[in-house]
Amino acid sequence: MTQDLIVAPSILAADFSKIGDEVKAVDVAGADWIHLDVMDGHFVPNLTFGPPLIRALRPHSKKVFDTHLMVSNPDALLDDYASAGSDIITVHFEACPHLDRTLSHIRELGCKAGVSLNPHTPIDGLQHVLDRLDLILVMTVNPGFGGQSFIYKMLEKITEVRSMIGNRPIVIEVDGGVTADNAGKIVASGANALVAGSSIFKGPSYADNISAIRAATA
Ligand code: DX5
Ligand code: ZN
Repeated sequence: MTQDLIVAPSILAADFSKIGDEVKAVDVAGADWIHLDVMDGHFVPNLTFGPPLIRALRPHSKKVFDTHLMVSNPDALLDDYASAGSDIITVHFEACPHLDRTLSHIRELGCKAGVSLNPHTPIDGLQHVLDRLDLILVMTVNPGFGGQSFIYKMLEKITEVRSMIGNRPIVIEVDGGVTADNAGKIVASGANALVAGSSIFKGPSYADNISAIRAATA
């Protein structure tokens, strides 16, 4: 599941009053994936949306739906997130006491399986599930809100993850505070998928914003 740089706009920063049009707009603007931030008001303080919205958005884009579950009990609704149209389902390491089982379940549902690490979470816990993983999401802000500043210390963690995965075809995705100003450093550290919300859903041209991120990594 590796390829050239993947840019995944997070619809958290979109205008929710016209969310279907916003998804179409970033699709046409050159998004590779559509990043869907699910928040439960428990694992993180904020609340967003669940499977019904993902299902409603599915006809608006053929791009990969990259579902990021910031929820305390992801196992309860994995089937629903898959049947709603998710292509990738990423759970949080901190929320999964039976991570091996959770990842296997995601793959059994026909989705790619991802694990996300909060900024303070060490990468060591992933060592024994690498063969069950398609994606590792390194959080570069504390999850829950868009528009926060990138935590530069996380560049070291990205490099550690790159070294840990060796030749495995695992995507290294980075989420939080990504802009055209830091995208070059992030990719140089070893990431190959960038989530960006507020730096893409702004101004007159989403296409220019996506291109600026790509250009910064070229
Ligand atoms: C944060 C979310 C991110 C967020 C990124 O909890 O997981 O995907 O939307 O937003 P920006 O790019 O504005 O930091
Ligand atoms: Zn996210």
